[in-house]
Amino acid sequence: MAGLPYIVGNWKMNGTRGMLAEARAMDRAAARFPKVQVAVAPPATLLYRVRDAVELIGVGGQDCHAKESGAFTGDISAPMLKDAGADFTIVGHSERREYHGETDADVKAKAEAALAAGLAVILCVGETEAQRDAGNAEAVVSAQLDGSCPHFDGAPEKLSVAYEPVWAIGTGRVPSIADVAAMHAAIRNRLVGIYGEGGADVRILYGGSVKADNAAELLAVPDVGGALVGGASLTAESFLAIVGAAASLNT
Ligand code: PGA
Repeated sequence: MAGLPYIVGNWKMNGTRGMLAEARAMDRAAARFPKVQVAVAPPATLLYRVRDAVELIGVGGQDCHAKESGAFTGDISAPMLKDAGADFTIVGHSERREYHGETDADVKAKAEAALAAGLAVILCVGETEAQRDAGNAEAVVSAQLDGSCPHFDGAPEKLSVAYEPVWAIGTGRVPSIADVAAMHAAIRNRLVGIYGEGGADVRILYGGSVKADNAAELLAVPDVGGALVGGASLTAESFLAIVGAAASLNT
């Protein structure tokens, strides 16, 4: 597995201009952690402003439409994200899948549109609690990967997969380290099945209640190449503690 640990903040529907100070603080501190790749995905309204406010950290969208333009009121296309300064976009977050009815096919089309626009992609997958309790977590995630992984010829580093168990998002609960290890190994196998050798270079992030006090343990798991962080990415202080944990593992 290649690449620096990748720590990405997902601000979700949080943030107005007052949050720019947090982005600036994250960016300044990122200079102290050259062995960690740091990025944030602010709401679309702040994308351009965050881009303007930072120098070192990556900036991305939280979703994109599959089409380049057209009569899709309220939607934002991948070329628009790129134009606003995005380096990447998240697609297929479970909140999009659940509240906006996005299917694997939708997520795949979005990921392909993003890659075609020159954006890197963080593709989210993860099982619900009921699916895990039924013993189906790996099968569910495997099927999500089969249905939503983009077809593309570019560098595998352009794609990251974020494993985010739905029941761990925003709840303070995290899977056991053994479960994270087993799932990340299963995802790696599936990615190699889908992409061949290139699948070994796709980064796999863990997401769901990552905090300063569990980050080091989660990031030390084989095939955990970084973290997608929601709540703890909203202040520079809590986010940088996670970045620091990644840096201390990667010296
Ligand atoms: P959380 O969110 O860190 O607040 O659990 C993670 C995510 O949804 O990406």
